[in-house]
Order: sequence, then structure tokens, then C-alpha cells
Amino acid sequence: MKTGSSLAILASLGGAAAFWRMECRGQVGLARLDPLIDPGVPSKHAHAIHGSSGFSESATFEDLRNGDCTSCGVAEDMSAYWAPALYFKHLNGSFEEVKQDGGMLAYYFLNYDLKDGKKGIKAFPNDFRMVAGDSSRRNYSVGGLDYRQPDPPKSEWGAKGQTNQEDLAQRALGFNCLNYDTDAEPALYRHYLPDKTFLDSKCKHGVRFELSFPSCWNGKDISSPDHKSHVAYPDTVLNGNCPEGFDVKLPGLFFETIWRTHDFLGVPGQFVISNGDVEGFGYHADFISGWDEDFLQAAVDQCTNPSGRISDCPLFTLLSADDQRKCKIATPPMIAADKLAGLIGDILPGNVKISLGPAPANHNSPKPDPISLPAVSLPVPNVLPGGVFKEEPTSSPEAESSTSTPTPTPTPIPSDPPIPKGYELVRTDYITKGNVVSKIVVIETVTYVMVATETVTVTATPSVAAAGADDKARRELNQHLHRHRHHHGSH
Ligand SMILES: *[C@@H]1O[C@H](CO)[C@@H](O)[C@H](O)[C@H]1NC(C)=O
Ligand SMILES: *[C@@H]1O[C@H](CO)[C@@H](O)[C@H](O)[C@H]1NC(C)=O
Repeated sequence: MKTGSSLAILASLGGAAAFWRMECRGQVGLARLDPLIDPGVPSKHAHAIHGSSGFSESATFEDLRNGDCTSCGVAEDMSAYWAPALYFKHLNGSFEEVKQDGGMLAYYFLNYDLKDGKKGIKAFPNDFRMVAGDSSRRNYSVGGLDYRQPDPPKSEWGAKGQTNQEDLAQRALGFNCLNYDTDAEPALYRHYLPDKTFLDSKCKHGVRFELSFPSCWNGKDISSPDHKSHVAYPDTVLNGNCPEGFDVKLPGLFFETIWRTHDFLGVPGQFVISNGDVEGFGYHADFISGWDEDFLQAAVDQCTNPSGRISDCPLFTLLSADDQRKCKIATPPMIAADKLAGLIGDILPGNVKISLGPAPANHNSPKPDPISLPAVSLPVPNVLPGGVFKEEPTSSPEAESSTSTPTPTPTPIPSDPPIPKGYELVRTDYITKGNVVSKIVVIETVTYVMVATETVTVTATPSVAAAGADDKARRELNQHLHRHRHHHGSH
């Protein structure tokens, strides 16, 4: 039996827990392919595809592993990552491809389950598959509030009854307005795609689509009929407690794609996601792991440098940006006639029609074109967890995205307080209160004796010194602190 006395240290937000950021500089394909949802046939809408060149309408794990190349930055990662593409509809009805800026990033967050951090992170099993988001969704239903309002603080989600899986899935989508001249918006801050007027006036460096996958697993199924029910979100999406029955913590996959909406600055029209969604509620993404499970487990266990840089993981064989961009899938004959790039005429690939909610999209009986709602400007907190997600602006904004090479922002090294002797790091979490985001580093001593479990949460004060923190830790911790104490009865 374990006795843990936990010491939570509140420090001002300085960084993130261990993670790495898989760079996928090149699209391996832009095509109506989706081996999970539409195996063997053309998929309903176009996807921006990244990863193994072994990808196809019916790709298996072996196909991905046997691909000639990957459009991501690590040779051992033969996974497939895909999500809908973005188009722009001109006033005359013609659609035009919107380019990506710098490819896609797939973050692997190594956040432990709060309940049982000791179990650590389990690598994706071979051939693990999952889908995040719902292509037919056309509304935002969490809290019954205006979807344009910011989320309540994460610490209130539970009490407000906003931690069921449907709610968490809607909060797992983000549309980040990029303007590198101002403070960055946090990740997963806004859950809808703002309209053209808002984008033109506020987002001079484009929009970053964000999507967090569930990271709690039932521990047995590599997939499920809907490619979702074998996994679940922890109760604050990226972090938190896993629901019962989903006790195995996987790496937290988080996709980020920057779209060059600013290429259309001043051009009248409307952005449309390739599945006919103009508001973003139906944004979704798919993943098939093409890692060797044992290799990935070693990386998850060993590559915990808080920089997030794949170059800081000695296990990875790095690929150059050029090699990533050169990697392409072969287009299957059945979709060879699709027009996907540049100006594509007045129909979306797959003849997808624009459909507005709130009822779910029915791709067989399209609705008339929507009139989009005006976006409102949200207040932006001063201290934001999304800083680590920022990509550096390209030096030449007019360069084609296929040739632009944004250098990833060197992730700031978190200034975590040193861990006092005799304690070990259990987890890192964030708490939002008003406009202040605080990072909490939980450390604990563990002894194995027959006793009740006691969790002491010390939110700073000089009493930290009593717990053995050295001078430096004390100095960094002095700002905040109250004391909470929870006693959990135990068998
Ligand atoms: C529609 O407008 C766009 C932007 O002005 C233009 O490039 C395109 O050629 C037009 N399409 C047609 C069919 O006129
Ligand atoms: C909102 O979307 C969900 C999921 O698609 C759907 O079940 C629900 O009926 C929609 N609400 C309305 C008011 O249409």
C-alpha cells in the first residue's frame, strides 16, 4: 500500500510537462483518402495527409511500416496523420485551395493520469487507430452558452457538469488567430473558426487549427467500430483524470496546422473546411500509429526533455525538411480525376456541399449555403499556455507554403522549481483563475507502508521550506500559496 504525501508547488507558468513535437514539414498527400472511415473507396471529402508514404485508401500497419519515406521528421515514425483540408470560396462560387504554413505538427504530450501517475505513459500499440472530432457536427453545445464566449476556468468544468466525453471532445478543437505582433492566444481557446471579417482584421499570420486526441485508453482494443470508443479524454482534455475503464494513459496527441488564410486578405468570400463546415465544429482528425511499439515505448520513457525538440531525443533518426517535403503517396486511379490544388472550380472535392447547423450535417442531402455569424473578439489572458505551440512566422510571408521553411520556435525551457531532495516529480498541471494561468508541479514522497493516503496540497508559502525545498525553490514559490489538505480513507 502506498502512502503519498503530495506537495503541489504553484509557480508562474514557465513551460509544459514533458513532450515532443513531431514536425511534419510536408504533406504526403492532399486527397480523398481515409482508410479508417472509408476503407477501400474514395473518402467523402479531401484530407491533408502527413506521415508515411505507405498511406492509401486501405493502408494497413504493414503498409505504413513499409512506406518508402515519411513526410515527418523522424525516420522511425511511419504513422499516418490526416485531417480535412481548407478551401476558400470566392464570391463567384469558385473554390481555391488554402495553403498550409510549414506543414503539420503532431505533439506527443507525456502527461500522466492524475489518479495514478506512477503507471506512466504506455506507447501506442502497433496499428493503434483513432479518430478525434465529429465530421457531421455543426454546433457547439457545451454549457448551453454562446459558443463565442471563452471557456470557464478548467477548475470549474467538473462542478458545472462539463466533463462528459461529448463536452470534452468539443473543447478539444481550437482555432487560434495568429498575429505574431501581439500576445499569442492559448491553445484550444476558441472552438469555432472565425469568419472572414474577423480573420482579415485580426489574424494577419493565418489561423492555426488545433485538435487534441483522447489520451486515456481501455488498455485492450487497438481500435473500435467508431474508432473512438476505445479511448477517452481526461477531464481537462490535455490533462487530468482518466474516466473509469480507460485507465491506461497514452501519449496525448495534439495536431496543429497553420493555414494561410492571410493569403486571401481583402478578397471577398468565405473559408470552408473540406467537409462543408464553415464554423469548424465538424473539424476532426485521424491517426494510425506506424511506430514500432517497443521503440515508441523507449522514446516515451527516455525522451522527456522539456524542450519538446525531437533533436533532443537521442533515439530518433532525424530527417531533413527537404526529405520530408519530397515524400509523396501515389494517387490511386479511382481519385485521379479529383481537382484539389489551386483553383478547383465551383465544387468541393467529392461534391461536398456547405452545411450549416445546428443539426448534424447529412452529406447526402445538402443544405443551402449558410450566412456566417459575426465573430466576436474574445478577451485574451496575459499569461497563456499556448506559447509553446507557436511557430515562427516565415521570413517571407509571400513565399509559397511549399517552399517556406518556418523554423520552429525554440521552446522556452521551463523554469520549474527544483525538486526538493527526497521527492519525485509526479505530474504537472495547469489551473486557470481569472486571467492568471498557473503551473502546478506536483512532487511526492513515496513510502510503502500500511496507512491511509494523505494528499497535502501546499500552494506555496514559506512552509515549503519545511518540506525540504532549497533556497532557490523557496524564492520561486513565494508568490502564491494557501494550504489544502485532503484525507482519503483507505483499506
Ligand atoms: C472567380 O474569382 C476568382 C478570384 O477573383 C478568379 O481567380 C477565378 O478565375 C474566378 N472564377 C471564374 C470561374 O470566373
Ligand atoms: C448539435 O449537434 C449534435 C451532434 O451532432 C446533435 O446531436 C444535436 O441534435 C445538435 N443540436 C441541435 C439543436 O441540432
